[in-house]
Amino acid sequence: MKYDIAVTAGDGIGPEVTDEAVKVLNRIGERFGHVFRYDRKLVGGAAIDSTGNPLPDETVDACKRSDATLFGAVGGPAWDGLRGELRPEQAILRLRKELGLYANLRPAIVFEELSDASPLKYELLEEGLDILIVRELTGGIYFGPKGTAEIENGRTKDGILSACIDEGNMRPADGRAAYDTEFYTESEIRRIGVTAFAMARKRRNKVVSVDKSNVLETSRLWREIMESLHEEYPDVKLEHMYADNAAMQLIRDPNQFDVIVTSNMFGDILSDEASQITGSIGMLPSASLGDGNFGLYEPIHGSAPDIAGKDLANPIASILSAAMLLRYSLSLADEANAAEAAVSKFLKKGFRTPDICADWSVRVGTREAGDLIADFI
Ligand code: IPM
Ligand code: MG
Repeated sequence: MKYDIAVTAGDGIGPEVTDEAVKVLNRIGERFGHVFRYDRKLVGGAAIDSTGNPLPDETVDACKRSDATLFGAVGGPAWDGLRGELRPEQAILRLRKELGLYANLRPAIVFEELSDASPLKYELLEEGLDILIVRELTGGIYFGPKGTAEIENGRTKDGILSACIDEGNMRPADGRAAYDTEFYTESEIRRIGVTAFAMARKRRNKVVSVDKSNVLETSRLWREIMESLHEEYPDVKLEHMYADNAAMQLIRDPNQFDVIVTSNMFGDILSDEASQITGSIGMLPSASLGDGNFGLYEPIHGSAPDIAGKDLANPIASILSAAMLLRYSLSLADEANAAEAAVSKFLKKGFRTPDICADWSVRVGTREAGDLIADFI
């Protein structure tokens, strides 16, 4: 079969880790008799430099035409001075939104071979770890109304902020102000809940819904919808947890979790935390899905400008993202398993990129890691 994959490698280590994922996909293609056609497009800072726009229409169109998109990373010090819509991060946020990718799957798995790389005590991870964070991706505070305003004599011309001031009966001090709004509709909560419950059914039948319903109105709605949805999944256990407690529980006893479902912002934070339990953020892939088969796949790490271009980056997160692409968008489960098994073999044989390197292991660079993993397929 022939498959069309849009490749948006982006900035920093994005291009180098994505190259290794493509290397592995090509080997999978040879082994299993598939042809992957790549359509490489600019995104993030790289796109700003050549077009002035972090997400050119051409890039969005290429993603829409593709069966799946492999994304690298965006951002870096060169573009840190830019504001709002012009920032490289806007590219990934707008892509998620424009492609309708509301469900972000972020597995945190501790490979047996890497339990020594985790900062947690060995006893806590003796049986390994396999958590799936299901993060809502196109709503919440990331996409709610936001703005900046000037306050003079306790008043502002900004309509939304002004309504908040009246509502709260406030008399704010003069000066600059800024706001972001957490905002969720029932249907947005329901559909991410459906993803989480469905995923839990294929795993260990447990969902922990993370919110802050002791404080936030959006969280109270979130909890209510999760409860009512639970009636359709009586075989799955549902628990609720406040976000601050969840952050603590992830470190105290990570194995109590199977699927975690949560809002855009809490999911962003908790998935970085969970990644560290696994030893390195350089290991964790993600899939962003909508209603159909199309998906966007990216490592959860960023562009790491400090190590870019030095052959130091760990390509495993990107390679495992490509494995998720095979599984979820192309329904090629055997091929996905083969890619994941190759990563396991690489680790079992003691090969390590610098981020996960121990005294006894064989230190390899980005390209050599990709070569070895491809060879293990
Ligand atoms: C992530 C990143 C992004 C996010 C940034 C780059 C906008 O942190 O994918 O987790 O906050 O979603
Ligand atoms: Mg993040």
